[in-house]
Amino acid sequence: MDELLDLKLHTERLVLRAPDDGDVPAFVRWCGDWELARWTANIPHPYTAADAEKFVADARRAIVDARTLTFVFERLEAPGLVGAIGLGLDGAGEEADMGWWVGGPFQGQGYASEAASCVVDFARTMGLRRLTAGAHPDNLVSQGVARKLGMRSAGRLLRAQPARGHPVETLEFVLTL
Ligand SMILES: CC(C)(COP(=O)(O)OP(=O)(O)OC[C@H]1O[C@@H](n2cnc3c(N)ncnc32)[C@H](O)[C@@H]1OP(=O)(O)O)[C@@H](O)C(=O)NCCC(=O)NCCS
Repeated sequence: MDELLDLKLHTERLVLRAPDDGDVPAFVRWCGDWELARWTANIPHPYTAADAEKFVADARRAIVDARTLTFVFERLEAPGLVGAIGLGLDGAGEEADMGWWVGGPFQGQGYASEAASCVVDFARTMGLRRLTAGAHPDNLVSQGVARKLGMRSAGRLLRAQPARGHPVETLEFVLTL
């Protein structure tokens, strides 16, 4: 889906787009923060420029192959990446698993909820039927994002947490579209 590399989605305060090489320094800065990485299922710690370059290259390939759609987002008022949301698609085009992060200085301002809500709308237009997300039991903010999206609790699942170096039993959330 090459055209998705050029797609831009707008919300009231944000623009969402595919990641590119220009985002590498911001990825290193925000994802290099242990306080951010330790809650996520795909960010190792420490996090280097090589990790970010590989992530961007892999993410762009996965968009073209329609495996995972990664959206980064910037504020309309000021350029610069403030966060990212991933939509990991199943092979059947029915379901996707969502993950999100927002850089430390930008947290607590509703950006994750605003961007995630836009991605949920986009998932609906793609014809997806079901979205899932996982959150560490202590990650009340991420659980808050899932609940604000209308997701409901759906048990527990062991998920990778690369920064911690071991999988963690996470709370699962589901949204039927
Ligand atoms: C989780 C994360 C993406 C949230 O980003 P954010 O932009 O700060 O989130 P929002 O401002 O949209 O807040 C979402 C909701 O969380 C809830 N929330 C916030 N703080 C909370 C707390 N301490 N306890 C319970 N709920 C809380 C609120 O319902 C809030 O909505 P509200 O502002 O309308 O009240 C961000 O904190 C982050 O990147 N954390 C590190 C990485 C991470 O945890 N990723 C998710 C892995 S599962």
